[in-house]
Amino acid sequence: MNVNVVEQKFCERFGDKGMLFASPGRINLIGEHTDYNGGFVFPGAIDKGMVAMIKPNGLDVVRAYAVDLDDYVEFGLREEDAPAASWARYIFGVCREIQKRGGQVKGFDTTFSGDVPLGAGMSSSAALESTFANALNDIYELGIDRFELARIGQSTEHNYCGVKCGIMDQFASVFGKAGHLMRLDCRSMEFEYFPFNPEEHGYKLVLLDSVVKHELVGSPYNDRRASCERVAAKLGQEFLRGATMAQLDAIKGEISEEDYKRARYVIGEEQRVLDVCAALERGDYETVGRRMYETHWGMSKDYEVSCEELDFLATLAEECGVTGSRIMGGGFGGCTINLVRAELYEGFLATAKARFAERYGHEPKVYSVVISDGARRIN
Ligand code: GLA
Repeated sequence: MNVNVVEQKFCERFGDKGMLFASPGRINLIGEHTDYNGGFVFPGAIDKGMVAMIKPNGLDVVRAYAVDLDDYVEFGLREEDAPAASWARYIFGVCREIQKRGGQVKGFDTTFSGDVPLGAGMSSSAALESTFANALNDIYELGIDRFELARIGQSTEHNYCGVKCGIMDQFASVFGKAGHLMRLDCRSMEFEYFPFNPEEHGYKLVLLDSVVKHELVGSPYNDRRASCERVAAKLGQEFLRGATMAQLDAIKGEISEEDYKRARYVIGEEQRVLDVCAALERGDYETVGRRMYETHWGMSKDYEVSCEELDFLATLAEECGVTGSRIMGGGFGGCTINLVRAELYEGFLATAKARFAERYGHEPKVYSVVISDGARRIN
């Protein structure tokens, strides 16, 4: 992360130094579109994220400079002061959500930069939200607990960015721990750290970015969520979590074909997360991989959040003997996450690059995964 640049730009603009805070993006091994259904997710924070320098300025405005976009915005802290720039709305939203919870946030200066690829399904926006939620909590000594920091990020998405997301991304960004995945129960909010060192078992985890950009805002994401909520309501439940295929089949005639398929995917995915956690505890990576492929095709055919490029990458992975591969994150573009035996790794990447480029005119981007710590202050 570009700590030095963030600091240098801060000094140039504001003539002084502030405090540095960082928060990561995330991967998710399995459990996609389960969070807002009250189900399980299995993410980990990564070594890519956001870093921000921040200092209270004694005014009632926030003065923010986005280093990567070379864009500067000033905004006040009342509801009607919402900035137009979408990146600034994340920061504004975090301030407002803290205020709604009774926290006193005043004006501050900030510069920030990130290395989470945008739109790749690695939660650059959650990294931005948790950086500021954590920083403002620290600077103003607000005493907000870490779950609430995650919720502040989630509410920012809901109320200021138009995405009715679940809690997974913000949770992972706040609670991440190096070398560990986290299984979170999104209904009870209980979670457990799982040591995750695929290398010790002869596997590597790698992301292939199709570079197809997704746009979750005001979008198909919210439609997916609405389908799930309709089916849950039909079943007389708050969440789809816990519903069985038999229950779903019993109401099949009363719901749309589309809603049926969405719910079928979610119910299957709940079980796959539990299967994967159990398999990991036995070191059974083959089962982990099989479930990943099942998730991919469930997301593609039933949930319909994949795209041609990602289906191509998952198919190619299977042909290359890759243990598991699937679309990661909300969908509509972005990355596949691949679990690859070490001896196949180089060959797989070479083939994937060549075949993808032959078909789509450019190579996929490759990111190796390092599971890292969550939101923190760095000086
Ligand atoms: C996006 C959302 C998350 C989650 C995933 C899909 O990343 O922000 O809450 O729903 O999609 O698993």
